[in-house]
Amino acid sequence: MEKKVFPPDFAWGVATASYQIEGAYDTDGRGESIWDRFCTIPGRILNGDDGKIACDHYHRYPEDVALMKSLGIKSYRFSISWSRVFPKGTGEVNQMGLQFYKNLVHELLEHGIEPFVTLYHWDLPQALQDLGGWANPNMPTYFLDYAKLIFQELGDKVTKWMTLNEPYCAAFLGNYEGRQAPGIKDFSTALSVAYNLYVGHGLVVEYFRNENMIGEIGIALNLMPRLPFTNKEEDIKATEYADGYINRWFLDPIIKGTYPQDMITLYREKGVVLPEFQEEHLRLMSQKLDFMGLNYYNDFWVTADETVWPLGFSLKNPPFAPVNDRGWPVTEQGLTKMLLRLKNEYGIDTIYITENGTSQPDTLSLNKTVGDGIRIDYLHRHLLAMHDAIAQGVNVKGYFQWSLYDNFEWAFGYSSRFGIVYVDFNTQERFVKDSGFWYANLIKENAI
Ligand code: NOJ
Repeated sequence: MEKKVFPPDFAWGVATASYQIEGAYDTDGRGESIWDRFCTIPGRILNGDDGKIACDHYHRYPEDVALMKSLGIKSYRFSISWSRVFPKGTGEVNQMGLQFYKNLVHELLEHGIEPFVTLYHWDLPQALQDLGGWANPNMPTYFLDYAKLIFQELGDKVTKWMTLNEPYCAAFLGNYEGRQAPGIKDFSTALSVAYNLYVGHGLVVEYFRNENMIGEIGIALNLMPRLPFTNKEEDIKATEYADGYINRWFLDPIIKGTYPQDMITLYREKGVVLPEFQEEHLRLMSQKLDFMGLNYYNDFWVTADETVWPLGFSLKNPPFAPVNDRGWPVTEQGLTKMLLRLKNEYGIDTIYITENGTSQPDTLSLNKTVGDGIRIDYLHRHLLAMHDAIAQGVNVKGYFQWSLYDNFEWAFGYSSRFGIVYVDFNTQERFVKDSGFWYANLIKENAI
């Protein structure tokens, strides 16, 4: 097969998130987050796992950065734990928590690895949840105060920023489905959370511009094409709603400064309480970003299902696709399709793939290797799909594999392994999987 070469200076990276890898949950003054609290509720996390220790990255970051360096990783996307720097969410700053991130950034730069920092990857300080969390209209201002501190302390070294990670999940998995923190099950609350997250995003982008901060700011969204399971009219209609729910509800405000009218109508008809859309908020939300971050994993199909209130659809696996141990279909075509859509329909000119990867039931063999050929195949397919979009004119500037390590996979605890590096959670030893070596080689060649 002919080699596909990637653009020069391509940002080859790996991604992680604070609660999933740091551990040190009560060390050096860190405050409680909604995930610490959620993990204490029986039955919420598989096997009763929690993020108290996770990969102990808080203590082992020098070793972790050195490992990245040995694999030739060029960029590292990580998130900051809000409650580590503001234990109560607002007010007094925890200097020791802040110092950890300064040290980490320093270590990365020393090793020639570029930091890409996410400000909010789902771990809201519990003290703010006690005030109503993101459903509270004051939350965007608290978020801005937190972001100001981070910009002030790290802004001379970090030049790539993301405000939010997957606001869809933070809003709907956390506040409608209730299977993530804070575990609320109310559709109207989820809508107001999604709205306030975006007001917060807007305030932070505005501040970043007004202060003439050096660097680039964007957001990481999980987006996926939706296809009807059959050609029946009701499935086609349901697919429009499925697209509106996960994609357009999050893209339109940011790019066009509007919310999709068909979804507003649907929600009204079903008796959902909608946020009060304000002009000023829509202006804030739709400020120009320097890049769009795309988290891409899979592409489920859609079937009409009137038993599901208020959405009227459910998701099905595409009939042809292999699935991973989470039941997620492997659908790399969806990545090409979404990248083309972002460019052609939304006019987005700069994109990073901020997450892509798969979970497999990896085991460490006697000779300390991990043969994860299925993950290599998954990555191979998606990188070809990304290349396909680049060849068709989409400006993709980087790719972050999810994840560097097996880590705390939210409600699935440690049972779901996404790493290209295996972690033995009893000893904290790290073992590079076959996919890790494969990825290192690809980075070296800048080709596949
Ligand atoms: C997206 C989330 O951003 C990340 O935290 C999660 O672990 C991966 N998806 C895999 O589920």
